[in-house]
Amino acid sequence: MLQSIFVVISALLIAQTHADSTAESLHGTWSSKSNQVFTGPGFYDPIDELLIEPSLPGISYSFTEDGYFEEATYQVKGNAKDPSCPVAVLIFQHGTYNISSNGTLVLTPFKVDGRQLLSEPCVDKGTSTYSRYNQTETFKSFAVSIDPYHGQYKLQLYQFDGAPVQPLYLAYRPPMMLPTETLNPTATDDSSAEETGSSNSKRSLSNLVKRGLENRQRTNAVKTNREGFIFTNVFWYFSVLMIGVGSVAFLAY
Ligand SMILES: *[C@@H]1O[C@H](CO)[C@@H](O)[C@H](O)[C@H]1NC(C)=O
Ligand SMILES: *[C@@H]1O[C@H](CO)[C@@H](O)[C@H](O)[C@H]1NC(C)=O
Ligand SMILES: *[C@@H]1O[C@H](CO)[C@@H](O)[C@H](O)[C@H]1NC(C)=O
Repeated sequence: MLQSIFVVISALLIAQTHADSTAESLHGTWSSKSNQVFTGPGFYDPIDELLIEPSLPGISYSFTEDGYFEEATYQVKGNAKDPSCPVAVLIFQHGTYNISSNGTLVLTPFKVDGRQLLSEPCVDKGTSTYSRYNQTETFKSFAVSIDPYHGQYKLQLYQFDGAPVQPLYLAYRPPMMLPTETLNPTATDDSSAEETGSSNSKRSLSNLVKRGLENRQRTNAVKTNREGFIFTNVFWYFSVLMIGVGSVAFLAY
């Protein structure tokens, strides 16, 4: 009995001290401490091209063993000048990743598939901006280990300058992800053409988003022009409230 406990403890110590930096160790869905943001269909609906706001801010990355990644982030940035004016950003991206021999991890998105929803309540007067998004992400290194406090697998990513990203914890293995292929293969590579609706073979992005929101009755979003759509004040106050709850939850943790 005592012996097996020692075996478990030493196994934990070994796992803890030997951080792993292989594709095999990366495999799975990872989520930040709030444990509310996950990649997959709960964050981005590719049929309606709809980003779905999680209840709390956080970030999530998923990796397959064969070189595909997916990213879901919901971040709220405070405004130093006016704390009541936070900026909220939701981002979805997926594509391929590559681990170099020096340990650098590069995420290369499928450019036509990325989406961003940017909300600046004090600047945009309640009109959130929905747009295409593509950003190659380079992490100088990463390490997977067992977090002795949470008793969970932990993924530590380091930004290009070496600064650590907030730690991520394993949520699903195998990962919860959308199909690892381009989801909008008919879309033109030129985002501006799509946004202005000049392509008559495909409905404009804004139309698709508006339809998705109306279908779900999440808001009574009203299309105002080609570029955007209006979120009601109710939606905004709700968002700001959730942002507040999220920040408190983070601080209290
Ligand atoms: C990563 O990129 C390097 C250089 O481009 C390439 O040699 C290697 O095969 C790639 N690895 C994977 C897993 O795709
Ligand atoms: C690691 O290798 C990649 C590609 O091989 C390169 O772009 C990057 O600068 C290297 N990083 C470091 C820290 O040397
Ligand atoms: C990718 O992002 C760049 C910079 O924002 C933009 O110029 C380009 O059109 C985007 N590409 C696609 C396919 O969306």
